[in-house]
Amino acid sequence: ESTASSRKGSQAPTPPRSVVGIGNKVAKPDYSEAKIVLAMVGLPARGKSYLSNKLMRYLKWLEYDVEVFNVGQLRRSRARQKALQSGIKEDHTAKYFSHDNIEATRIREKLSEDSLDMLIQWLKKGGNVGIHDATNSTRSRRAKIEARVAKERGMEVIFIESVTSDPVVIAANVALKVSSGDPDYKDLPKEVAERDFLRRIKEYEAVYETITEPHLSYLRITDVGNEVTLSRINGYLQSRIGFYLMNLHVKPRSIFFSRHGESQFNVEGKIGGDSPLSERGLQYAKALPELVRKHIGDAALTVWTSTLQRTIQTAQYLPDPKLTWKSLDELDAGVCDGMTYDEIEQAYPEDFANRDDDKFNYRYRGGESYRDVVVRLEPVIMELERQENILIFGHQAILRCLYAYFHDMPQADLPYIKIPLHTVIKLTPKAYGCDEERYTLPIGAVNTHRPKPSASHMEVPVASYAREYFGRRI
Ligand code: F6P
Repeated sequence: ESTASSRKGSQAPTPPRSVVGIGNKVAKPDYSEAKIVLAMVGLPARGKSYLSNKLMRYLKWLEYDVEVFNVGQLRRSRARQKALQSGIKEDHTAKYFSHDNIEATRIREKLSEDSLDMLIQWLKKGGNVGIHDATNSTRSRRAKIEARVAKERGMEVIFIESVTSDPVVIAANVALKVSSGDPDYKDLPKEVAERDFLRRIKEYEAVYETITEPHLSYLRITDVGNEVTLSRINGYLQSRIGFYLMNLHVKPRSIFFSRHGESQFNVEGKIGGDSPLSERGLQYAKALPELVRKHIGDAALTVWTSTLQRTIQTAQYLPDPKLTWKSLDELDAGVCDGMTYDEIEQAYPEDFANRDDDKFNYRYRGGESYRDVVVRLEPVIMELERQENILIFGHQAILRCLYAYFHDMPQADLPYIKIPLHTVIKLTPKAYGCDEERYTLPIGAVNTHRPKPSASHMEVPVASYAREYFGRRI
């Protein structure tokens, strides 16, 4: 007899959850009406791919189906195929990007059109936001995009132009392009690559036309974080995209996450509640100022906590300005608040199994799901994008959601991310993601991570149901 079945022994037999799909699941929001083409506009080295990827991460985190269609990648993959089939290696150095190069210009136009076609097909199959990551730097190119999208019912196009006037930022983007293993340049010495890329930029500058077409829907971002112009932006998702881009900046900074110090409830294995720190939790709070200063130096820092006393107590010895957010409170466990996982399994066995089945969607009776938490954390993400160095004292579920945003992690993995107690996680946003460091203080704490039960373990409720129902072993 397994533990699970003996616990269930006195209860009325319940069908396996796979048969009836017992409650408390929340359907995915229906975004099927949203069909938007975001066409990037800008010279090379103006952060178009950076913006595309940031937007993709943000909108995916909000559960929209988003994909970036990068024309440069299509160009390279077609050139590879051609080289394999015919042995002819296309030359993609700066002269390939010159408008005087009639043949290459024709190929590049075709690549852009094909990439847009793929994007539109993908939207038709259920995608919500397709990002056309190309320079789209002339009026005629934009007119073509507009005409192509206009053929599709229910689709619209918004142009996002990235303008950079700061030579330091441009130089940094150029350096990143030639040193980050970009396939166009990976086999060339750095100086040769840099010279060629600067020539390529010149070729584009010769024909570049900033957006002035008055009828277009567009957003122009000047020096990310400095100025945003919006023209003809209507609708919920469209405004949200605009608002997000308005809040972005690219100043170097770090975001620190830490759970509160070990709490009394953690020691007792209980979830939720508003218990104070344990003795070891207090030790963690006292050791934090030294650790934090060591890793941030003299830079300004703002500390955010939830409204629960365990995070406020954890922050109490830090001298930095503090802000309390209700949205940072731990996932509400509803009727299970204050119980241990074992108690929940006994009192609500089906719910317990459902949570293991689909932890992201499972909503506690009278409480929340991870999905609900993501929705309530959106303003926190928006504010985090606007701010510089921030230290957040949060909770296990909350920090998992924030962490997943910064690392673009899939929904199914999100509720199992390991965020141990007495550990500070430092995230430093980089061009395409985040660098991460973790500092664990040598102050013991319980482990509150409950891993996803293995497939064989998950069988138990079904097997025990059959035993109870049919009175025999299976
Ligand atoms: O156990 C600590 C805790 O923060 C609880 O308050 C909360 O319910 C739980 O973690 C969230 O983690 P999980 O979603 O894995 O149950």
